[in-house]
Amino acid sequence: MADSKYVLEVKDLHTSFFTDAGEVKAVNGVSFNLEPGKTLGIVGESGSGKSVTAYSIMQILAQTGRITGGEVLFKGEDITKYSEREMQKFRGSKCSIIFQDPMTSLNPVFTVGYQLEEAIMLHTNKTRAQAKERAIELLKLVGVNDPEKRIKQYPHEHSGGMRQRDMIAMALACEPDILIADEPTTALDVTIQAQILELMQELQKKLGMAIIMVTHDLGVIASMCDEILVMYGGRVCERGTADDIFYSPAHEYTKGLLRSIPRTDNMNEKLVPIGGTPINLLNMPEGCAFCPRCDEAMKICLKEVPDELRISDSHLASCWMNVKELYESKEA
Ligand SMILES: Nc1ncnc2c1ncn2[C@@H]1O[C@H](COP(=O)(O)OP(=O)(O)OP(=O)(O)O)[C@@H](O)[C@H]1O
Ligand SMILES: [Mg+2]
Repeated sequence: MADSKYVLEVKDLHTSFFTDAGEVKAVNGVSFNLEPGKTLGIVGESGSGKSVTAYSIMQILAQTGRITGGEVLFKGEDITKYSEREMQKFRGSKCSIIFQDPMTSLNPVFTVGYQLEEAIMLHTNKTRAQAKERAIELLKLVGVNDPEKRIKQYPHEHSGGMRQRDMIAMALACEPDILIADEPTTALDVTIQAQILELMQELQKKLGMAIIMVTHDLGVIASMCDEILVMYGGRVCERGTADDIFYSPAHEYTKGLLRSIPRTDNMNEKLVPIGGTPINLLNMPEGCAFCPRCDEAMKICLKEVPDELRISDSHLASCWMNVKELYESKEA
């Protein structure tokens, strides 16, 4: 296996859905690197391509979906070239995913214990008895009380928060290098949400895995991410640390996003929603995807998407406003 300091490198990823209405370009050139043990947050409004980016990595796209370009390197090896059999091994043992709704992953007709044991046995050569022991251990690890009793129950006998814990246990069954969490707490109330996020961070420390946290809620990831990607129209429009994104946003979309959410450091300011509607992915504009909704847009924004401009060592943004002087003088 090729040597790499990153556990995952996504390079210029393109994913489309081929529908009756045409090609829906859901992901349009996403790139990022993830180091072992680090947390990457992906934020953006509904439809911006966050889940499709995650599903492309796992290759669990809908039948009409296809990766049309780019590479996904796991420890230096391009997994887009993997066969389905190799991918099956990758999913679960190297990289696991937690979905927003646990019932999409838990089967209602089998007990939680049975499903956990099956997941463990699929990826290890443990016997049923050993797998059961491990299942109990995992439920204990994710904070389920009385796991010996709980593993004999069906998913519907567990509360929403507990099912989310069951699913995290399932995702951790084979101690993956990467855990992808796609809106893992959106369906939960705020206290349980905080507990689950805390749990994920604890487990990350214990097991040393990298986490990709997908959410449309900036608040959720502010405290836990080493790097945040802001997505719009299937592209990364800005990336940086939480401080970069929250205190010096450098893309007009991120600025709009921050103006539209309540912040404790800015309680007196009015919330301003972003006007306009999300772009039509069937017909991607030539220039910046956010341009039609941007109050600051210049002529150049209609024509061209800028490469990511360097704001600081940790901070990049694809927004012409960062070199406004250059273009105002050119077009004057
Ligand atoms: N199976 C599909 N067929 C056609 N288009 C799809 C399919 N799945 C997703 N898309 C489109 O891809 C785009 C990106 O979807 P995605 O699910 O990644 O959004 P998201 O950022 O995760 O949004 P949310 O916050 O609502 O989960 C959307 O416009 C969506 O309509
Ligand atoms: Mg999604």
